[in-house]
Amino acid sequence: MQTITKVAELRRAINEARSGGKRVGFVPTMGYLHDGHLALVRASQMQCDITVVSIFVNPTQFGPNEDLSVYPRDFPRDEKLCHDADVTILFAPEAQEVYPPRFHTFVDPGELAKPLCGFFRPGHFRGVATVVSKLFNMVQPDVAVFGQKDFQQCAVVRRMVIDLNLPIEIVTVPTIRETDGLAMSSRNRYLSEEERRRALAISRGLFAAVAKFQAGEREAKELLAIAKQHLETVDRLQYLELVDADTLEPAESTLHRPAALCAAAYIGSTRLIDNILLAAGYELCPDTPA
Ligand code: PAF
Repeated sequence: MQTITKVAELRRAINEARSGGKRVGFVPTMGYLHDGHLALVRASQMQCDITVVSIFVNPTQFGPNEDLSVYPRDFPRDEKLCHDADVTILFAPEAQEVYPPRFHTFVDPGELAKPLCGFFRPGHFRGVATVVSKLFNMVQPDVAVFGQKDFQQCAVVRRMVIDLNLPIEIVTVPTIRETDGLAMSSRNRYLSEEERRRALAISRGLFAAVAKFQAGEREAKELLAIAKQHLETVDRLQYLELVDADTLEPAESTLHRPAALCAAAYIGSTRLIDNILLAAGYELCPDTPA
């Protein structure tokens, strides 16, 4: 594995690989890697000859009172995990390499960035879309892999790739969970033991709604109410919403199309997000084309 910090060197290494006809996969991350990230690496490796992982804690996607300065970082550990996972290139640029002096140009992701996390984190997806498009230009991958846990991020990136004619296939990997159901996240390390136990309310709420959905419930209100019962115990529920899985607009009152049940909640001072797709049984809906 090569560890690279400069864009020029990254380009040289990738061009060399590409000249041998190799397909390039890319996994962008902010580091503090866990099994969820390693699942993204494996998904890239299944489809590509070389896999580039980036580690960059992107300042432009954090709000002024968010956790940028304390975001968990452990580069030696991340480097070893990437090495052991057979990553081909680890790209870990400094902030000045990504945002040179007088940096001015941002990517505005529009409507998809407005609901859910975008409502509570204004500017977040503008920062994500900007850094992801810059990283795409640096790596020029054939395939880029993202985790479904960041459902809105996946929607924003998919739209951006279409709108900006970027020749990149976006692959989304289902959320990797701890054995008790908690979605893996670098921010889970902020939780005390007691908070870690209470954090389970989020996945339990989502699973309870899915169970009802699978049993035939299609009324959005009912599905939300079932999830909400579990989420009563979180310290602050920021949102619990059922949205159309493609547009992220509020889902129909009776579900006919795939929807995503999305939640953001505080456990202590830690903000966690999770989501689940309500799409199984879609074929049971009467107006689904054969
Ligand atoms: O999902 C993340 O870790 C980040 O939002 C990403 C995609 C690496 C952009 O900074």
